[in-house]
Amino acid sequence: MNNLFDLTGKVAVVTGASTGLGQGMSLGFAEAGADLVLVDYVPSTETEEMIKKLGRKTLVMELNLMKMESITTLVEKAISTFGKVDILVNNAGIIRRTPAIDFSEKDWDEVMQINSKTVFFLSQACARDMMKRKYGKIINIASLLAFQGGIFVPSYAASKGAVAQVTKSMANEWAKDGITINAIAPGYMATNNTSALRKDEARSKSILDRIPAGRWGLPADVQGAAVFLASPASDYVNGHVLVVDGGWMAR
Ligand SMILES: NC(=O)c1ccc[n+]([C@@H]2O[C@H](COP(=O)([O-])OP(=O)(O)OC[C@H]3O[C@@H](n4cnc5c(N)ncnc54)[C@H](O)[C@@H]3O)[C@@H](O)[C@H]2O)c1
Repeated sequence: MNNLFDLTGKVAVVTGASTGLGQGMSLGFAEAGADLVLVDYVPSTETEEMIKKLGRKTLVMELNLMKMESITTLVEKAISTFGKVDILVNNAGIIRRTPAIDFSEKDWDEVMQINSKTVFFLSQACARDMMKRKYGKIINIASLLAFQGGIFVPSYAASKGAVAQVTKSMANEWAKDGITINAIAPGYMATNNTSALRKDEARSKSILDRIPAGRWGLPADVQGAAVFLASPASDYVNGHVLVVDGGWMAR
């Protein structure tokens, strides 16, 4: 049974790996046996040290994934270092909060670029390598706002809706090549992404009141779902958006 979740010998690329959910998932993969390519535009030193303590290899890349050329650099370096990419987690993402009536083109474009466009083109670049071995696992980090509209975050909701849909369209085309493409939709997690919400007492209380688990999620809470979707345990799961939200969507 344990072998179903074993990632020994696998190479996982995680974007946005320096903190938050990306750090949590990277540690989960390392504990399951994978080596890691940690990508972020700020240093991933802390994550790297934690993974090295687990005895796994790391490649750390400081790249701005808003730039399309970063995608080529990332995939070429990962393959020249480890020989392949088995697992890709498209986790790097940003959020901009402004009422829709005042929302700027800049905040629309930047959020869409990193949260959606990069997700597709980095997946495409990794899938070209995965197809050579007829095996690969792509995990896109969506959000509850792939299903709901949110408040003051129109480009974020649009970008995460796109993540859910492009996950399905890639699955439809690449399942026959041995690649699974699934998404995780985290609920309200205590990371930098939600610090503004957690500082707003009224908003924080109204969010907590709706979470059946009665608490904000933690990076460790997405590890199980990530390891499942990265491992042979999920080989026949494709195009799925897995909610990890303490029960929010059931409400
Ligand atoms: N925290 C939540 O409640 C929550 C809920 C649903 C979905 N998510 C999603 O989870 C993912 C991770 O978010 P988090 O909560 O850990 O937030 P976070 O802000 O702590 O982490 C995001 C990471 O992405 C990196 N990043 C952002 N833009 C980048 C760029 N252009 N190039 C390279 N790296 C970049 C950041 O440096 C950071 O390390 C995001 O896609 C986010 O939208 C978070």
